[in-house]
Amino acid sequence: MVHLPGERSPDPEGVAVGPLDLAARVDDALAVQAVAFGLTAEEVGVRRHIVLRHLTSPGARALGATSPTGRLVGFVYGMPNDRTHWWSTVVQPYLRAAGHEDWLDDSFVITELHVHPAYQNRGIGRRLITAITDGVCQPRSLLSAIDTDSPARGLYRSLGYTDLARPVLFPSAPSPYAVMGARLPLRR
Ligand SMILES: CC(C)(COP(=O)(O)OP(=O)(O)OC[C@H]1O[C@@H](n2cnc3c(N)ncnc32)[C@H](O)[C@@H]1OP(=O)(O)O)[C@@H](O)C(=O)NCCC(=O)NCCS
Repeated sequence: MVHLPGERSPDPEGVAVGPLDLAARVDDALAVQAVAFGLTAEEVGVRRHIVLRHLTSPGARALGATSPTGRLVGFVYGMPNDRTHWWSTVVQPYLRAAGHEDWLDDSFVITELHVHPAYQNRGIGRRLITAITDGVCQPRSLLSAIDTDSPARGLYRSLGYTDLARPVLFPSAPSPYAVMGARLPLRR
């Protein structure tokens, strides 16, 4: 098990999920994403600008999972879909071809969800994504995930997300993705 520097023992029971000032904690969040998802230092720098720009979008919101020592061990953020955003323009032709283009309207997009490996598989990711979607007014949610049998795909399916389009190719991403959608509130 991977431990964070200075962390004595991961205690998922004591991990609190709540509002996150992601602009202020962007470096902590990207450090979690870097180890959970695998980002190079260069990719972290690129993501930093993207996250800060996303946070200026209307309706953008973020939640964090914080250990008893105040360490950020997981986060989720997203925003109502905006058809002019890069992500939406990439997935639009795939959703259209699959007959699901209407999902681009009135949907809350989960942009990132990551839990530090030392804290994974203890329900924290599930708490983060259900809490953020419980707080939005859109009737449905969209996301994209690498199209493999990963823990992320298993989690999303268990919450009611189904495949709307696959494979979806993002420019510069080596792996194909699946676009998934779920009615809100997410299944318990
Ligand atoms: C995806 C991720 C956020 C999930 O967070 P988590 O806190 O570990 O997830 P939870 O403990 O809440 O949920 C675990 C669920 O994931 C699924 N899951 C976990 N391990 C799995 C595995 N090896 N295979 C398939 N499904 C698995 C199960 O549905 C499980 O539900 P269960 O507890 O009822 O069995 C976390 O694994 C992560 O950060 N992964 C790396 C980054 C990433 O892929 N992010 C998503 C990008 S789209």
